[in-house]
Amino acid sequence: MCGIVGAVAARPVAEILLEGLRRLEYRGYDSAGMAVSNGNTTERLRRTGKVQALADALAENPLSGHLGIAHTRWATHGKPTENNAHPHMSGDRLAIVHNGIIENFEVLKAALIKQGFRFTSDTDTEVVAHLLQAELNGGSAILDAVNTVVAKLEGAFALGVIQMDNPGQMIAARKGSPLVVGVGIGENFIASDQLALLQVTDRFMFLDEGDVARISCDGIEVWDQAGASVERDVVRYEHSVSSADKGEYKHYMMKEIYEQPKVLAAAMEGRLSNGRLLEQAFGAGASEIFDQVKQVQIIACGTSYHAGMVAKYWIEDLVGIPCNVEVASEYRYRPVVLPEGTLFISVSQSGETADTLAALREIKDRVLASLTICNVPGSSLVRESDLCLMTNAGPEIGVASTKAFTTQLVGLLLTTLALGRRHNLSEEKETEIVAALQQLPELTRQVLEMDKDIELMSQSFAEKHHSLFLGRGPMYPVVMEGALKLKEISYIHAESYPAGELKHGPLALVDKDMPVVTVAPRNGMLDKLKANLQEVRARGGELFVFAGCSEQVKPEEGMAVLHMPEVPAILEPIVFTVPLQLLSYHVAVLKGTDVDQPRNLAKSVTVE
Ligand code: AGP
Repeated sequence: MCGIVGAVAARPVAEILLEGLRRLEYRGYDSAGMAVSNGNTTERLRRTGKVQALADALAENPLSGHLGIAHTRWATHGKPTENNAHPHMSGDRLAIVHNGIIENFEVLKAALIKQGFRFTSDTDTEVVAHLLQAELNGGSAILDAVNTVVAKLEGAFALGVIQMDNPGQMIAARKGSPLVVGVGIGENFIASDQLALLQVTDRFMFLDEGDVARISCDGIEVWDQAGASVERDVVRYEHSVSSADKGEYKHYMMKEIYEQPKVLAAAMEGRLSNGRLLEQAFGAGASEIFDQVKQVQIIACGTSYHAGMVAKYWIEDLVGIPCNVEVASEYRYRPVVLPEGTLFISVSQSGETADTLAALREIKDRVLASLTICNVPGSSLVRESDLCLMTNAGPEIGVASTKAFTTQLVGLLLTTLALGRRHNLSEEKETEIVAALQQLPELTRQVLEMDKDIELMSQSFAEKHHSLFLGRGPMYPVVMEGALKLKEISYIHAESYPAGELKHGPLALVDKDMPVVTVAPRNGMLDKLKANLQEVRARGGELFVFAGCSEQVKPEEGMAVLHMPEVPAILEPIVFTVPLQLLSYHVAVLKGTDVDQPRNLAKSVTVE
C-alpha cells in the first residue's frame, strides 16, 4: 500500500527520502516519486515501476534541497502511470503525497474544475493539492489551508505537504491511514512506517486520528481533531535496527521463516511463569474483563483470519464458550448480533488493516471489551483496543506473512488459556499446555532442518498451474494458510478444503496435474484423512504429505511423505505451518517470482 516519507533537515534530503522509499518497498507499490524544495523551486521526479527506476532518474537529474516528500504508490484511482504517481502538485510551489482514499473526490474535483483548476492525473489525491492551492490563493497560510481542506475530505488519508514559500517546514495530517513522525536532532521526518526512517532515527511520535502537525528542523507542533495544541509521546523503536535487514538470506521471507524459533520464544517471553500464564500480559484490567467473557468474536483478514480460525478450535474445545470468526471486510458491513459478554478480538500483523480497524470502530461500544493480537506497537488497532497482546515477531517485511502468523497463534493460545481458566480448563491442563509451548522454539528448529527435503519436493510443483490443500479439524485453517502462501508468491492457483468435503465436489478436479498437499498429524482425524487421501490416489492425484508419525503414513508411488517431529497435539497448527511456508517459498524461487513483493499485493492494506 502507498508509502510516504518526508524530511526537513539542514542537510540535503533526497538520499534520505530515497532510502526511506527503499525501506517501504515491502508494502507493495507500482510507481514512486519525490519532490524536493530548495527555497527557489520545487522539483519533482516520478517513475513507474521500482524505486530503482526513480533512483536511476535521480542519478541523472539530482534533486537538491533541504525539504522534501516522497511516495510509493499502489494504484487505486487511475493506472500506475507517471502522471498518476505522487507527489502531486498544484502550480509549481505546492506538492503533496497521500496514502488512503478520498471518497468524495469526484464532487470536489467537479467543483475545482469549475473554478478553473486543471487536472493532470486520474487520482483522488490531486484534488487535495488543488483544494490547498485554492485556500492559499485566498490568502490562507499553509497550516490553515491544511486544516480547512482536511475538514472537507471524506475517507482515509495520511498527507505530507510542502510549500516552496515555507522552505523550512512540512505539514502532516492523518485520519484513517498510518503516519509517524521521526524525531531527529536538528532534523525531523515523517513516514508511513517507522522502518522507513530507521537509518536516521530511532525515536518516533505516533500521530492520533485527526491530528495535524507542523514539522520543522527544530520543532514538531501537533494539533488534535478539535484544533487544540497537544503533546504526543516520543517513543523509542523497540527492535534492533538489523532486524529490518535481510542479513545472509536471499529474501526477507526466508529470513522471517528462519526467525521463527527466536520470535516464537519472544512471543511467550515474560508471559509464562511456573507453568502458568501471567495474564497481566494483556494489559491493565484484563483479569476483570476476562472474568465476564461469555463468548468471543474474532475479526481479521487474510493470514490473520486463518490464525483466528485455528483459535476457534482451541477456544470452543478448551474453554467451552462460543467463538465466531469472520473476515473483517464482510463483518463491518452487516448487521451483527452481539450477545452480552462478547470479547471482540482483532488479529492483525500491521495493526493498520483498514477493514479490521473499521470493524473494531463499528462495534467497539457494543461489546464487553476489545482485545487486539498485533505485531506493531503504537499501531491504530493497539491504540484503539481496550487490551492488547503484542506478538513480538519483529518487523515482517515479506508481503507473505510467515512469522507473524505463527506468533499470532501463540498469542491466541495464550488468550485461550486466560479464558479457559475461568471455564473448562483445569490447572493441570494449563500447565501441560504451557510445558508444550516451551518446546515450541526447539520443535520449529527441527522442522527447519527439513528444508532441503522440502526444497526437493518443491520441484514437483514448479510446472503445475493448480493445486489442492487438504486438512481436517484445526489443520484445515493451516492448509488454508498454506494455500494462500503458495498462491501469493508462486501465482499457482491453490485451493484449500476440509478433507471431508473432497467428495462433495473438488474430487472432480483431481488428476495427475493436480498436486494435493496435506498435513497429517497423528490425531483422532488421521484415519479419516487417510481415507480421503486414498480417494485422491484412486483418481491418479499426486500426494504430498507432511505426516506426524512414521508408522502410520508411508510413502508409496504417487505419494511423497515427509515426517515431522513428534509434536504435542496443541502445537500441531503452529509447527505444521512451517513446512508449508518453506514449500511455497521454494516453489516461488524456482518459478523466479518476486518473492518478497509479489505482484498486485501490498503488505499493509490500509484502504478498503
Ligand atoms: C498474508 O500473507 C497477506 N499478505 C495478507 O493476507 C495479510 O495477512 C492481511 O492483509 C492482513 O494483514 P494484517 O495482519 O496486517 O491485518
